[in-house]
Amino acid sequence: MAKLWGGRFQKSAESWVDEFGASIGFDQQLVLEDIEGSVAHVTMLGAQNILPKEDVEKILDGLAQLKVKAEAGELEFSVSNEDIHLNLEKMLIDLIGPVGGKLHTGRSRNDQVATDMHLFLKKSVPEVIGLIEHFQKTIVEQAEQNLDTIAPGYTHLQRAQPISFAHHLMVYFWQLQRDKERFTESMKRIDILPLGAGAMAGTTFPIDRLKSAELLGFAEVYANSMDAVSDRDFIVEFLSNSALLMTHLSRFAEEIIIWSTDEFKFIELDDAFSTGSSIMPQKKNPDMAELIRGKTGRAYGNLMGLLTVLKGTPLTYNKDMQEDKEGMFDTMETVLGSLKIFEGMVRTMSVNKARLHSAVHSDFSNATELADYLATKGMPFREAHEVTGKLVFTCIQQGIYLLDLPLEEMQKESVLIEEDIYAVLAPEAAVSRRNSLGGTGFEQVALQIQNAKQLLV
Ligand code: ARG
Repeated sequence: MAKLWGGRFQKSAESWVDEFGASIGFDQQLVLEDIEGSVAHVTMLGAQNILPKEDVEKILDGLAQLKVKAEAGELEFSVSNEDIHLNLEKMLIDLIGPVGGKLHTGRSRNDQVATDMHLFLKKSVPEVIGLIEHFQKTIVEQAEQNLDTIAPGYTHLQRAQPISFAHHLMVYFWQLQRDKERFTESMKRIDILPLGAGAMAGTTFPIDRLKSAELLGFAEVYANSMDAVSDRDFIVEFLSNSALLMTHLSRFAEEIIIWSTDEFKFIELDDAFSTGSSIMPQKKNPDMAELIRGKTGRAYGNLMGLLTVLKGTPLTYNKDMQEDKEGMFDTMETVLGSLKIFEGMVRTMSVNKARLHSAVHSDFSNATELADYLATKGMPFREAHEVTGKLVFTCIQQGIYLLDLPLEEMQKESVLIEEDIYAVLAPEAAVSRRNSLGGTGFEQVALQIQNAKQLLV
């Protein structure tokens, strides 16, 4: 088939060579963005009297027809037309005749493809932000239901100090809050239009780039035509923000997986978000959480892939840049899917309050309380730590916990210890007394949740 750029060529590439160079297999996802960009471009060409009104109307009419077909999934793309831009241009010419060839006046595929990518992210990143926010609301709801659920807090995955389970859940709210801020911040750089940069040097036609920006709803245009066609920072930023978001989801997924084990039993996932085993009838596997943890790998890969594509490319456009798309689409799908699933998983999971309660009553996570108690009574903290450590050791030898240790035994290590120690050692007390700003004390956590809710619209 004759190429739209074939004039200078004496022979055509074989089809397998065309196939290797083609991007239509994946950039057809940009069909609506490409049409939208063309509509704005030709409208601007008309407004600037670069093209006569009747030509503009014919082109707009053709583009409108293509849009209807695109939305119905009725367009048939061909590898011999390489990419979405040439496919659509060819279809337009087939539909309305040679006048369709005027659409590309003052434009290049280089500013066109960059425009499509900006349009894609301008539409999709707000979807990501919306899903993050939706998930945050669910986390807040679970936290509110678990404000007084006492749970073990960990460092090194060893019992550390008792906490409110809400405090633990809210960590993920704040991680997501920062993710949301990063995506929102990035919109500023997505909201810059490359269209009108031409191949790279601008154009001799009296175009109006600001008009195109206005038509497409962009806040700004690129200040430098060469930067406009070679910049992919905004995609790297999307991939980077997504990689970090996936890191957060993956850490949360890991906790969900651990909490669902028989060893922990802190939560139970809803049947709707679990899967069975083909051989072991008793199994209920946290597949969705595992899959999200696993998909984090591809999000990292896509970021590393694009950074590597860009690192050696000279200015301006190079065909290498065609490699920016699949990773972006893949990460977008991964992030949207993971957020949706995770929200449902957390909304429907049940928290085993009784189990969390008994867990925190059968460990030494209240040891810091004893050390703090002694320090409050004037003993240097280092000494208090030593005394408490010895008492913990005594308990371990007897197979009991600090609350089970008779007062006389404790007083053998320090006479500062009195009857009131038992109230202090209660895990509930340990939590409620940690009322330093941002601490796990119930009042602080309630305040934290209240502040968090104000960040949600
Ligand atoms: N398919 C190309 C891409 O995705 C479009 C731009 C092609 N420009 C060019 N001069 N070959 O990057």
